[in-house]
Amino acid sequence: MAVARMNMNCSIQSSLSCILKPSSFFNFRTTHFRNRVSPTRNNFVAPKRSLLCTCSSNGNSNAFQTGEKAEPFVVTTPLYYVNAPPHMGSAYTTIAADAIARFQRLLGKRVVFITGTDEHGEKIATAAAAGGSGPREHCDVISQAYKMLWNDLDIAYDKFIRTTDPKHEAIVEEFYSRVLANDDIYRADYEGLYCVNCEEYKDEKELLENNCCPTHLKPCVPRKEDNYFFALSKYQKPLEEILAQNPDFVQPSYRLNEVQSWIKNGLRDFSISRAAVDWGIPVPNDNKQTIYVWFDALLGYISALLEDKDQPNLQSAVSSGWPASLHLIGKDILRFHAVYWPAMLMSAGLSLPKRVFGHGFLTKDGMKMGKSLGNTIEPNELVDKFGADAVRYFFLREVEFGNDGDYSEDRFINIVNAHLANTIGNLLNRTLGLLKKNCQSTLVVDSSIAAEGKEFKDTVERLVEKARIHYENLALSSACEAVLEIGNAGNLYMDKHQPWSLFKQGGDAFEAAAKDLVIILETMRIIAIALSPVAPSLCRRIHEQLGYSEDQFDNLNWSETKWGGLKGGQVMAQPKPVFARIEQIKENENGGAEAPKKVVKKKEKKQQVQGVIEA
Ligand code: MSP
Repeated sequence: MAVARMNMNCSIQSSLSCILKPSSFFNFRTTHFRNRVSPTRNNFVAPKRSLLCTCSSNGNSNAFQTGEKAEPFVVTTPLYYVNAPPHMGSAYTTIAADAIARFQRLLGKRVVFITGTDEHGEKIATAAAAGGSGPREHCDVISQAYKMLWNDLDIAYDKFIRTTDPKHEAIVEEFYSRVLANDDIYRADYEGLYCVNCEEYKDEKELLENNCCPTHLKPCVPRKEDNYFFALSKYQKPLEEILAQNPDFVQPSYRLNEVQSWIKNGLRDFSISRAAVDWGIPVPNDNKQTIYVWFDALLGYISALLEDKDQPNLQSAVSSGWPASLHLIGKDILRFHAVYWPAMLMSAGLSLPKRVFGHGFLTKDGMKMGKSLGNTIEPNELVDKFGADAVRYFFLREVEFGNDGDYSEDRFINIVNAHLANTIGNLLNRTLGLLKKNCQSTLVVDSSIAAEGKEFKDTVERLVEKARIHYENLALSSACEAVLEIGNAGNLYMDKHQPWSLFKQGGDAFEAAAKDLVIILETMRIIAIALSPVAPSLCRRIHEQLGYSEDQFDNLNWSETKWGGLKGGQVMAQPKPVFARIEQIKENENGGAEAPKKVVKKKEKKQQVQGVIEA
């Protein structure tokens, strides 16, 4: 116990010393306790760093970094249960994480984007058995389905951790031993109501009629077990202090209030082993029990950091980037990330993550979309129909990050057509068309010269800065909105200046028109950078149309959103639509009665776009 405390920062240390008393364990509603487990080893060396790294990596980062010295930014998605293939709800967190990771890479940060699958536990074993396969085989198949979806959605993760990976198992065992050595594990009987879908014992007060889980609407089952427990209650005070001193630890702020009230109501020790579940990591020194799936899975965030060459131990993993900068999760798993996980880390003497952001749910008819309720939207279908950029853009733009959001196909098509096909795609296409016709697709002058004395440049710079701040604050919808405003401003500029008629007038008017096109194309260049976290393939195509190579796109930095990148003499590519409109055909059958709309499938895969954009 003393070893872990020695490494805590002062405030945590002082509060811990008043409460680390075994008597505080016994505050949950259960039965009798049996043999306390004595530590098997207590000689670990915990890292010498403060538990909560308060040097925030978010906020006003105007310094764009590059190279080896770049500050690491470790962002994680939840590790997804493999009871069933991914649905749009699981894809949502990953799309958001990818946009954030791409933005941080643009800032020059050394990003480690971690995702993966949570493969142990009763829920997975039951799903495998129901499908007629062994759990390992089942996990291989579903885990692969996640990887394929991430590929189709342009998710550029750095690490994919599977909790059945032997390296992860070694980390879990070592971590368990540390917590044990800290005297935070004991054995006891427990009786309660269990939701298999949440993999969690529930408090009767939280349940609906017939003891139904409010998330999964299925009855919880009574369970009685002899388990190992984690002494969460010991960490009540330290957690209260951490949250009071670091209000940004849990975001959005309304979720912080929720977490604080849970803690205030009293923390109960929780069971971290299962006697009746075989599919899991055996408890060290007691292979009759397996480690509770949440105690196991949360550690995936650390084991994911291991390099292939590393020995699978905590020290190697932690030195590769722990603590995480940001855990992105759905609001249903906030308690695990903002209460259990920090307490577990404190017990093991490890630093706490810097931030936990709990987003809302994608809903269908007001209900959380989910595998257990069977009301999901198939992300593969959406990607096949509309392409990855459209799917990514719609969910990030339409759902305010943090709140719930409902899906409707009509809304999807309207938004994507209006924003991506019209405001952005069409603006680029008609500008390039005019440049080809009048200037041999070549810029007549540097964009900085073209914009001299024009307020328009300031407008673009102001909006792109607005987008940056929104990205920093994880306000992804507002970031999209700011970029769209740039596109709107560009369209207004074109309508006001009408370069197509200036070209016809010749002389000075012709020159002015040629400059106007440079201004709009510079605007498109800035949009291509600023929207690339959200719609990477579309932005790559825009950038290439401006005469840049793939490599140049891959090495972009946010600092290049400054006005003045396009230079005179740069030759643009042939105008080609970068984003095809989604056409809805209304079929009129049955003697005039209107049949459902049919969506014309857009054949847009990565770089290839077919389809016509109105110029
Ligand atoms: N395996 C745990 C996480 C362990 S992390 C160490 C788990 N898995 S899950 O597959 O059930 O859920 C993963 C994430 O998907 C959660 O953040 C959850 O909130 C999110 N979503 C599942 N359905 C969702 C929606 N309908 N909408 C948005 N996100 C949702 O929990």
